[in-house]
Amino acid sequence: MTDDTLDPVPESPFRTSLLEEAEGDGSNPTVNPTMGELISIRFSRRGLLKGSLAVSAIASTVGPMALLSAEKARAANNSASSGSAFSFVEVEAGVDETHHVADGYDADVLLRWGDGLFPDSPAFDPKNQSAEAQRRQFGYNNDYVGFIPLDGSSEHGLLVVNHEYTNEHLMFPGIVSVAEGKLKVAPADLSRVDIEMAAHGGTIVEIRKVDGKWQPVREGKLNRRITSTTPMQLSGPVAGHDRVKTKDDLTGKQVLGTLNNCAGGVTPWGTYVMAEENFHGYFLGQLPEGHPEAANYKRYGVPEGTYEWGNFYDRFDLSKESNEPNRFGWIVEVDVNDPNSVPKKRTALGRFKHEGAESIVARDGRVVFYLGDDERFDYVYKFVTSGTFNPNDRAANMDLLDSGTLYVAKFEADGTLNWLPVVFGEGPLTAANGFNSQADVLIETRRAADLLGATKMDRPEDIQPNGVNGKVYVMLTNNTKRKDEQTDAANPRAKNAFGHIIEIAETDGDFAATKGKWEVLLKCGDPSVAAVGASFSTDTTRNGWFGMPDNCAVDSAGRLWVATDGNNPKDTGRTDGLWAVDVDGEARATSKLFFRVPVGAEMCGPLFTPDDRTAFVAVQHPGDGGTDWAPFGRPSYYEDLSTRWPDFKNDMPVRPAVVVITKKDGGKIGV
Ligand code: FEO
Ligand code: CA
Ligand code: CA
Repeated sequence: MTDDTLDPVPESPFRTSLLEEAEGDGSNPTVNPTMGELISIRFSRRGLLKGSLAVSAIASTVGPMALLSAEKARAANNSASSGSAFSFVEVEAGVDETHHVADGYDADVLLRWGDGLFPDSPAFDPKNQSAEAQRRQFGYNNDYVGFIPLDGSSEHGLLVVNHEYTNEHLMFPGIVSVAEGKLKVAPADLSRVDIEMAAHGGTIVEIRKVDGKWQPVREGKLNRRITSTTPMQLSGPVAGHDRVKTKDDLTGKQVLGTLNNCAGGVTPWGTYVMAEENFHGYFLGQLPEGHPEAANYKRYGVPEGTYEWGNFYDRFDLSKESNEPNRFGWIVEVDVNDPNSVPKKRTALGRFKHEGAESIVARDGRVVFYLGDDERFDYVYKFVTSGTFNPNDRAANMDLLDSGTLYVAKFEADGTLNWLPVVFGEGPLTAANGFNSQADVLIETRRAADLLGATKMDRPEDIQPNGVNGKVYVMLTNNTKRKDEQTDAANPRAKNAFGHIIEIAETDGDFAATKGKWEVLLKCGDPSVAAVGASFSTDTTRNGWFGMPDNCAVDSAGRLWVATDGNNPKDTGRTDGLWAVDVDGEARATSKLFFRVPVGAEMCGPLFTPDDRTAFVAVQHPGDGGTDWAPFGRPSYYEDLSTRWPDFKNDMPVRPAVVVITKKDGGKIGV
């Protein structure tokens, strides 16, 4: 480290430079030359928005006075939204170093990265981290949060949390340096890689409410950490196929670990499902020339090489192990009732950059899982089980996810929706196109969906069925690469910087139906700037609008809550947060800010207990790419600054956390 590392605070070339290095070539070859642009796993979202075309276009066409008067015209009308299902007074949008919740609520940290989960967990010591300690502690970058009640309670249950990825510059002191005006992260050593691998995965931890406050139960018998090395089983049509056999696993059925678990779900039978999203970033090296998996891997952006694990573990180096990438990109199911159960990668649900897996029981008892493939111009899917859910016999449901039908969505311009079966032998999914079995179709789900003519979407994130009003909500986070000539009814904005939300109504309210109708619920962004083309209701205040919908939840009253990822404070004057969105009646498309995160963080979770009296939210990567902004004046990376600036006590990294929100009067959230 040189003296200029910390003084002055560098003006954030860090994220951008890594982003540039991390970006790959195309992925979906069925659009145009720009379309396959990959989203880098760790550094893309805010980096892309910084200086995004849409945002700078706004700045150049609409002056501050116009913005001000537009805001005035809409007034701060928290109570004016007639017919709204929400009655809290919204939080003021803004930017600072802490979180904020609506008046009348408490927002308490429940678990942070490094917190102990077991009686023998070592205390968190960021300067002396080890993989062994991390395997007994809460992991990094919490994304999906689920709650599985114990004995039907809304005050005692298992919290299940995905740990999506690691930010080394925020985790480890002394690894960032400045060279030629750019911040660089020191190359990893084995010890750091092992910590990173242990900080990925998921946590299962018993929690309970004691004297009105939630707390983790370290003695919980079901507490468990799942990591990137936990033994898992491949199950379903792909298990045992030659394309998933490796030097270390000649059976093609045993995999070590899960990667980049973004959102997920809890099944009706009480298991935890984890979605493997940006798995391409963990692979490096090159396949041998002419290798048969080359086209497959190109479609998924493999290898992307952000992580250095392949320098230490051959299975992540394509030149040494060519089939390992086919063993990631799946939905993983975990039986939380047995802490020694082997998680199963349920291959019947397809292989792509899985965002989440929220489910609902259809009228005839089959179970429907809604699945997003989060990349620009990729697809929305659903999976319908062959078997039916048995509410009286948990064991009878445990392999429901091994057989069923995967569908991909085609959003027609007339507002109808066709769910196209992704099934070997149907339509183009035959040997003529290189598919010799359903296993082939599932391993190359994206190519199969390309051939079926599915609708290329603006980055499908969470998709949430709503059992109360019978609809389904699709979060489409953004797509600044969509060109004018690529717009369609379901993705109507070119250079879509702020994303939108689609509402699906399946035919006759049957979630298993193969047809439905759809409409755009909301085009996101600042509605006071005409060029953005946002469509919030006029009751939505300057605090109430948002961009980049990502995770979402429906509470037991059927109300929609949307969490965002990417509201760059420099461009939008706001951090990410949790917004309550009306979907019914006069107030439809009215949004209100309920909770906002510290600078640099994205908002994940959210999840409500069945009684709606507790909401869990996940604050992911707080401080990242935000504290180097002038108002904060400190680097966006973890350093023991007290050694440089004695008065500046900052010898603890900013830690991702799950925050629990309760109403001070003990009532239901949002009413
Ligand atoms: Fe991990 Fe698509 O968000
Ligand atoms: Ca997400
Ligand atoms: Ca996200």
